[in-house]
Amino acid sequence: MKHLADNAPLKQLDEWDDFVATRYRQGKSEEEFRNYKAEANPTVTEFYRQNHARQTFDFVLQKKAEYCSLSRGKKSIWEMAAYLNTLVDDSDPDTDLTQIEHLLQTAEAIRKDGHPRWFILTGFLHDLGKVLCLYGEPQWAVVGDTFPVGCEYSDQVVFPEFFAANPDSKIPAYQTEYGIYEPDCGLDKVHLSFGHDEYIYQATRRYMPEEAQYMLRYHSFYAAHRHGAYHHLMNEHDERMFDWVRKFNAYDLYSKGRERPNIQEILPFYEELVSEFFQDKIDW
Ligand SMILES: [Fe+2]
Ligand SMILES: [Fe+2]
Repeated sequence: MKHLADNAPLKQLDEWDDFVATRYRQGKSEEEFRNYKAEANPTVTEFYRQNHARQTFDFVLQKKAEYCSLSRGKKSIWEMAAYLNTLVDDSDPDTDLTQIEHLLQTAEAIRKDGHPRWFILTGFLHDLGKVLCLYGEPQWAVVGDTFPVGCEYSDQVVFPEFFAANPDSKIPAYQTEYGIYEPDCGLDKVHLSFGHDEYIYQATRRYMPEEAQYMLRYHSFYAAHRHGAYHHLMNEHDERMFDWVRKFNAYDLYSKGRERPNIQEILPFYEELVSEFFQDKIDW
């Protein structure tokens, strides 16, 4: 991937995913968790510095206008997965999973626990939105913990001190508890920082059940699903649906490190699964 170094502090996108998994390592005490900064390497820290400074309310609206109309052409899920797999960054081919392997590993972990077919498929789809990087979007607009824009930043978002450099922090209307939103308005009315979650949600929402839509759209919203922040913007329906987001998150975080999936062996199952929900090419 050729990027301006300034816009690509991570050697590979997965560095962010790995950092998140470390933060929530199973069995970690709350005190250990609060030490996450010691574990963030300089590239991850620089990545968050850019993400928090540049994801403004206006930026989010602009990216939503650009991508949520799904006007970049039609592709099948498999064509998109193959396209995402061309993202190689500086990863080590011997040890690092390819993007498709991460998707299949997540899906397989869900399958082994006997969950419904739509849940397995959600595991397979969940990071396809990272193709934003191949469209030329900078890392800070593709990955990272998501957070609402247009209202006060929660200190439950990692590296909250980096928000001081965001131009929105100087706009008083965006810095009250509710900002531009109404109490308990529901997350559908709230704009989150832009990234791969929103894009895959928009592309697949017409084909997937609502529980899956929540999993896809909010899987990086750690401040809410792990730390209970932003409840004042959620309605009761969101609260119920977030049980599914949390259920999904365990598989996203902890499926890595399991054995490499035998793609040839499991491919027929996934071909049938994908065609059950997506008969044709879809808009991206
Ligand atoms: Fe993701
Ligand atoms: Fe993931």
